[in-house]
Amino acid sequence: MSTSQQQQRVILVTGANKGLGFEVVKKLIKEPSSSKNDLILLGSRDLKRGQDAIKQLGSPANVHLLQLDTSSPSSIAQATNEIKQKYGGKLDTLINNAGIFIHENTVDAARSVFATNYYGIRTLNEHLSPLIKENGRIVNVASEVGAWALHEMSNDLQKKYKSSTLTKEQLDALVGDFISAIGSNRLEELGYNSKLPFLIYGTSKAALIALTRVEAREWSGAKNVLVLSVTPGLCKTDLSNHAPEARSAELGADSIVFPVNASANELENGQFYQDGQQKPQSCACPKDLSHLSKKQE
Ligand SMILES: NC(=O)c1ccc[n+]([C@@H]2O[C@H](COP(=O)([O-])OP(=O)(O)OC[C@H]3O[C@@H](n4cnc5c(N)ncnc54)[C@H](OP(=O)(O)O)[C@@H]3O)[C@@H](O)[C@H]2O)c1
Repeated sequence: MSTSQQQQRVILVTGANKGLGFEVVKKLIKEPSSSKNDLILLGSRDLKRGQDAIKQLGSPANVHLLQLDTSSPSSIAQATNEIKQKYGGKLDTLINNAGIFIHENTVDAARSVFATNYYGIRTLNEHLSPLIKENGRIVNVASEVGAWALHEMSNDLQKKYKSSTLTKEQLDALVGDFISAIGSNRLEELGYNSKLPFLIYGTSKAALIALTRVEAREWSGAKNVLVLSVTPGLCKTDLSNHAPEARSAELGADSIVFPVNASANELENGQFYQDGQQKPQSCACPKDLSHLSKKQE
């Protein structure tokens, strides 16, 4: 690599062929300070959709496509090798944006949602955290629905998700028990509110916010890496079915980009952010969603 290439920030955004991830890439290439220097890896599980997204951006020279299905361990291993071979094996920032929402409340739906929203990010971070440079950042895109889901759990269960000594193995066990409880109707027994709207999606994001805190403790050591979770807020994208009350994806992308560019003293390792403000790990949903739980029954 030439010296000028070595000075680039290398930023990977997963699930960036549309929606918020695409808006994040758009913002990163428009930043006056970084547009010429940063190398942006636009992650897309589908090659064609990724190529189309790059075309839509006007094919900037510093945006490269990285094929990556975050729910697939073999795709993660392949993308990790590609970063090592083509891009010098170093990343400044990893933005774990890829995420899904499924309406059904079934074990299969839960398996799919957790494969992308929790296990995929956990595995990708395991592979890529050794490549993150000194003072680098990992940004896990969660949701305020995760904080609402945690708030609805029993006190005992909340304590487990919030524990300052929680390990990844313990969190995996909590997640595994949640998924199997959906099939065996044991959610209430374990301390989940089975009537909660968006329960599977919300629990996957509660687990991701908890994972972020565990990863922050684990990786903050020698390299000063910060691991943070963010929510973009409810935004008009395919995932929200372009909800009329939602804000623009552009505004949501600002919330995701904040921890990428903020100075280290504006951020607290492991914490959850929206629009540049730290949010609690759990909070009551400010809206009445009871009409949605009736629809789910
Ligand atoms: N929109 C909201 O209101 C909202 C609110 C809070 C949090 N979020 C979070 O923000 C993130 C982005 O959501 P969005 O609203 O932009 O959704 P979106 O418009 O549906 O876009 C999701 C993106 O993720 C990709 N993706 C899904 N599963 C993937 C996988 N296994 N591997 C790689 N890419 C995958 C999709 O690729 P394909 O095109 O191939 O499907 C797409 O590029 C998600 O984590 C979501 O949970 C969104």
